[in-house]
Amino acid sequence: MVSYNVTVYTANLATASTFNSVSIKLVGTDGESKHTWLISLKWALSFLRGAVSSFTVSCPASIGKLVLIEIDKPRFLRYFEDSWFPAKVEVNSPEGDTYNFPIYRWITDGQVHRFREGTALRVFEDHHHLGKYSREQELEEREKDFRWDVYQEGIPHCLKAEGPLSLPDEVRFSFTKTTELLYTVSTGLAELQLKGLSGSEENWSDIESINEVFCCKQTDISEYVHDHWKEDAFFGYQFLNGVNPMLIQRCSTLPNTFPVSDDMVSLSGQCSLTDEMKRGNIFLCDYKCLDGLTPNIVNGKDQYLMAPLVLLHKTPDDKLMPIAIQLKQTPADDNPIFFPTDSEYDWLMAKIFVRGADFTEHQLNVHLMRTHLLAEVFAVSLLRNVPMVHPLYKLLVPHTRYTLQINYLGRALLISETGIITQYAACGGEGTKTLLKRSLASLTYSSLCIPDDIAARGLEDVPNFYYRDDGLKLWDIIHRCVQGVLSFYYKNDAELQKDSELQKWISDIFEYGFLSQAGKGIPQSFTTVAELVKFVTMVIFTCSAQHAAVNAGQYDYCGWMPNSPVSLQHPPPTTKGTTSEATMLQTFPNVNATVQGMSTFWVLSKHSTDFVSLGHYPEEHFSEKIPCKLIKDFHGELQELSAAIKARNENLEVPYTYLDPTEVENSVAL
Ligand code: FE2
Repeated sequence: MVSYNVTVYTANLATASTFNSVSIKLVGTDGESKHTWLISLKWALSFLRGAVSSFTVSCPASIGKLVLIEIDKPRFLRYFEDSWFPAKVEVNSPEGDTYNFPIYRWITDGQVHRFREGTALRVFEDHHHLGKYSREQELEEREKDFRWDVYQEGIPHCLKAEGPLSLPDEVRFSFTKTTELLYTVSTGLAELQLKGLSGSEENWSDIESINEVFCCKQTDISEYVHDHWKEDAFFGYQFLNGVNPMLIQRCSTLPNTFPVSDDMVSLSGQCSLTDEMKRGNIFLCDYKCLDGLTPNIVNGKDQYLMAPLVLLHKTPDDKLMPIAIQLKQTPADDNPIFFPTDSEYDWLMAKIFVRGADFTEHQLNVHLMRTHLLAEVFAVSLLRNVPMVHPLYKLLVPHTRYTLQINYLGRALLISETGIITQYAACGGEGTKTLLKRSLASLTYSSLCIPDDIAARGLEDVPNFYYRDDGLKLWDIIHRCVQGVLSFYYKNDAELQKDSELQKWISDIFEYGFLSQAGKGIPQSFTTVAELVKFVTMVIFTCSAQHAAVNAGQYDYCGWMPNSPVSLQHPPPTTKGTTSEATMLQTFPNVNATVQGMSTFWVLSKHSTDFVSLGHYPEEHFSEKIPCKLIKDFHGELQELSAAIKARNENLEVPYTYLDPTEVENSVAL
């Protein structure tokens, strides 16, 4: 007889314990053990939350190299079944080898579950018949559990789900995340109801009463925004370091639709617009994607959504100052170009309409489409096509955590028929549908890759652009880790080309995510390892850093409604000299629309306590030394970057924290 020492780790998660019996079978290259009950002196306490329990499995002779384990957890006394979340199993063989079996998923039934040994295997090198069988079984089950669905024609497909509780256990929120989210939502709503705000269709009577909505929920930056939102320099700053750093671009030629001439603008430093354009100091934000959208009706009133053009000048003292704003795309007498020299409220109203347009562009294109919906496609394709033992699964699964559930909730609570955007935002309803379609139709691969995107927008040397500075460093760090890990597994392009699971992953992303649109640069298959490395870098960057950059500052920058109105209920001025503070207050969204927006931003900016920051992998999916060392190096580089960002921020009037790796979550989880 020979003995195998089996150590079972139960995850340290709320409700992870089981009191059921657990049995295990070891399967090796030369044979297998019998199903053996895991019984120790701890008895029923062996599989409590956080427990590490050891057992012995005996076999008549060595069963060779271990390939997989089978685990089952029958009902206790045949009537009571509880869920169990084992983290991993370690087996020490009589030959002195240690085998690691990552699990990290809920076992809720009494069925037999198979888990592969942790050494990564691509499909073409998986030769053991039971290994191959379990690989095929796993993908068959996943294809049933994770099915594609069409939420709306013309946008990325999503996961088919009847409700949040119908999602497979392995992708659902933890108990901790669920309870904290419910607490945040319910206390926020209760506060608004107590103050009598959530049902009020009144206009704001004075601007400071807006500040009393969430007077106890200010952040340092939301207070700064409250104090500085009217200032031109801060208006310009937000195009670089606010929640939407994705629209601004260097302007070398003015669009025909924006007829600003030298004599119309007075630039700091006494320069002409033409000369400054040649020097690369003029920038443009063009919201043409919003042109012609059907605006919403809120509280029975027509709403107004503009498609502005904004011209900005980089001054000699490195500020980005707005110099001209046109609120509609077609030049006309009733579509004046506004300048900082206009009356205080004409210029302020022009900026408010730009901020209203930016809310729409940010929420639906930059945030929802370009991070949440794409992250869901990357995740569903991974779960359907790539088994746990594959190196790509091990690398990417931490970057899919909670994405499927948050997106289900986002669709139900924000853009469904009764969603908050549908009810209260200027673009709600038909406008949302059209804009999401346009966003996908205009999305290019290069715009998802920050080095290419910054170069294409001509923003390489704009001063004080922290999204770019921190984002490019993060991209490089992620790229180094991905390159190291994938080059370890794929020694040449031929290996990549014959990996049918990996190729199916990308072809499904192309088909279901990007709707097979050719000419956008999105890969349909991978030919070289370099292509794979870039795409996987983009996936991790999008799910972690990019989402953090456009999500985490929502309450900071949008919590003070005048800086980011969800909707505007009067048209913009068509002639100059007609506006006043009263015009502004009448134009702002009603009280109920304002507070719904503010409370949503509050919820969407709150980390849960089981937040996992970029580069932390509490689930150890990799077993081999080289990938484990690369991940350790990755973590070290992120810590260094975090220290540098924190030091830089100490000297900034407005710190840019969203891409500090300690603040970046591994996945789209909020
Ligand atoms: Fe988000």
